[in-house]
Amino acid sequence: MIEFENLMPIRPRRLRHNPAVRRLVTEYRVTPERLIYPLFVCEGTGVKTEIPSMPDVFQMSLDVLAEEVKELETLGIGGVLLFGIPEHKDECGSDAMSEDGIIARAVRTVKKAAPALLCITDVCFCEYTSHGHCGALKKLPSGLMDVDNDATLEMLQRQTLVQAEAGVDMVAPSGMMDGMIGAMRDALDSKGFTELPIMSYAVKYASAFYGPFRDAADSAPQFGDRRSYQMDFAAVAESALREVELDLAEGADLIMVKPALAYLDVVRMVHENFPEVPLATYNVSGEYSMVKAAALNGWIDENRIVDESLIAMTRAGAGIIITYWAKKVAQRMKK
Ligand code: PBG
Repeated sequence: MIEFENLMPIRPRRLRHNPAVRRLVTEYRVTPERLIYPLFVCEGTGVKTEIPSMPDVFQMSLDVLAEEVKELETLGIGGVLLFGIPEHKDECGSDAMSEDGIIARAVRTVKKAAPALLCITDVCFCEYTSHGHCGALKKLPSGLMDVDNDATLEMLQRQTLVQAEAGVDMVAPSGMMDGMIGAMRDALDSKGFTELPIMSYAVKYASAFYGPFRDAADSAPQFGDRRSYQMDFAAVAESALREVELDLAEGADLIMVKPALAYLDVVRMVHENFPEVPLATYNVSGEYSMVKAAALNGWIDENRIVDESLIAMTRAGAGIIITYWAKKVAQRMKK
């Protein structure tokens, strides 16, 4: 026990005076190889369109993507996470299940241009459906329209296999369908893709922080919201552990908590309960846009806010961070 009358010999500042000592005792570091960079891929050639609500984030066509990933490969970042934006959307998101669809061609482009760069795909339907929901729709007995869980599982299997055959290195299902991990694992194993890992968006809250992403991916739901499949942020916190447990039992290899900053308690809880499982957190679009907007107004220092936030996620227990800042951070570290 510390003797309180005798506190003065204890001087925590001794470790803070000298910058070299500070560096020596620093425990947490963010390195590029732990960062994953999301990319939005669209049709066309020479297209590089900035997303108005996400400065420095672009929708890009395949030719631009090829150049981009070559550069990213040299920066040593952990990987890219691809989102496809098709030219034509329909009721069941068929572009995502076609080998000529935008996401399949994006995977082939990345693997050809930058073979050493880890290529991950978001497996979901909201970017591909005309109604903007994450799967096929059905009418409930009550008359409400809702996403049909089990019909969507079959679609997810088809989407997963198209991406696997295109050469993806890891798949990341984000639709929060019950049983999605098991269904995808079965499909992959049945076609010999037994080594392909699945990173599950296991703990994903229905969050207003996804707003700018839906501009980026043209994926805002045309009616209702996603609360019948994404989690309620005010519900029992331990339900996060149940979601993780189920996904692990179905064969998930990595786990994600999303969003990041408002959910660091959940990141910590998952990390403490499943210390052996690689844990990612998604620093989502709204978190990015808020910082960008304030930085563009000169109200905060963007780089310092980013470093502080990424360290906070790391301290909470996330070994992997998916962030729109991945490229910028890696460029800064290289200097
Ligand atoms: C697709 C998906 C979303 C995000 C990642 N995958 C949108 C959503 O669930 O509405 C959000 C990412 C972000 O906000 O940066 N289901």
